[in-house]
Parts: sequence; structure tokens; C-alpha cells
Amino acid sequence: MLDLFKKRRSIRKFKQKPIEKEKIEALKKALLLAPSSRNIKPLEFIFLDNKEILNDISKCKPHGAIFLKEAALAVVVLGDENKSDVWVEDASIASIIVQLEAEALELGSCWIQIRNRNYNENKMAEDYIKEKLNIKENFKVESIIAIGYKDESKNPTDEENLDFSKIHINKFD
Ligand SMILES: Cc1cc2nc3c(=O)[nH]c(=O)nc-3n(C[C@H](O)[C@H](O)[C@H](O)COP(=O)(O)O)c2cc1C
Repeated sequence: MLDLFKKRRSIRKFKQKPIEKEKIEALKKALLLAPSSRNIKPLEFIFLDNKEILNDISKCKPHGAIFLKEAALAVVVLGDENKSDVWVEDASIASIIVQLEAEALELGSCWIQIRNRNYNENKMAEDYIKEKLNIKENFKVESIIAIGYKDESKNPTDEENLDFSKIHINKFD
């Protein structure tokens, strides 16, 4: 498991190669296996694989999403705020779990933050996405996970760089 955690790096360059059906099914299972507070399961997901839509959604914020247009797949992670007051935590867990499953399948991925991010001065990225994808009022958008075959290689995180001083024993010191 630690090797997988080290290998997972944010990948923002993707090959123009479709993801096999079996791998897409595995990604769906990973999302649906994510734990949630009180097992409420307030999340829903939109899989985007249409180039035109991916291109449109890649414009959802000024920085940090443009590479989405090159991804084979994007998973939009939604939380129903009427079902759970901790949908943010649930959505974050599902987001990282699908990233780790992608890595296990030899796919690259990157988290694109949507919650609290702006499309422009007057509009939130979430509202831009909700309009484009016809998302119901009660759903909030936490993240979009871009996924595809890697077209860049990054070294696994080196254990030497882990900052163990952030871990405290028995009290904060
Ligand atoms: C909550 C969260 C939000 C992020 N938002 C973005 C984003 O909007 N755009 C982006 O390119 N990367 C985003 N990232 C990726 C981080 O920049 C990346 O994980 C971090 O720099 C560490 O690099 P690594 O993932 O390769 O280890 C996000 C990551 C997290 C955990």
C-alpha cells in the first residue's frame, strides 16, 4: 500500500488513448466502496468521456483545470448537502480513493478543486459546472478527478522527504 501511495503523483499530461471498459468498471467500484459518515452515502458521480464536454468543463476555472481537455475520463464528485452535513469529507475520501485505484490500474490522475473556486469574478466554478451538466440544485461539487494514460513520468515520492516532525506523540510538542 505504501508503494502505491508513493507512486501516485498528480498527472496532468495524458495520452490520447481510451481507458478499457474493465478499468472504468473498477473505478466505479472504487468510488462506490468509499466509506461515508454514518454510511449515509450522500455522493453521486458523473463520468465524462465526451471530448466536447471535457473541453467545456476544462474552462471551469482560470487556473488548474485546463489539462482536463486532454484526459480520457473525468469523474465529477458530487455531494448531496441535504443528506449529510459532512458531504465534503465523504467527497474528499471518494476523490482520493478513485485516484489510488487509478494508480493501481497504471492510470494517471489529478484532483481539480471545484468547491470554493471561482469561474470568474461573478461566478463560482461550481455554478458553471452545474449549468453545463444539468446538476440538481441540492448537489454540491467537490472536485473533478481527471484520469487517463500517463503522458508524463514523475518519480515516486521519496521517503527522505517525509516530514516526521509533523507527527506528535501523546501531545502537541
Ligand atoms: C484538495 C486538493 C485540491 C487540488 N486541486 C488541484 C487543482 O485544482 N488543479 C491541479 O492541477 N492540481 C490540484 N491538486 C493537486 C496538487 O497540486 C498535488 O496533489 C500536490 O501538488 C502534490 O503533488 P503530487 O500529487 O504529485 O504528490 C489538488 C490536490 C488536492 C489534494
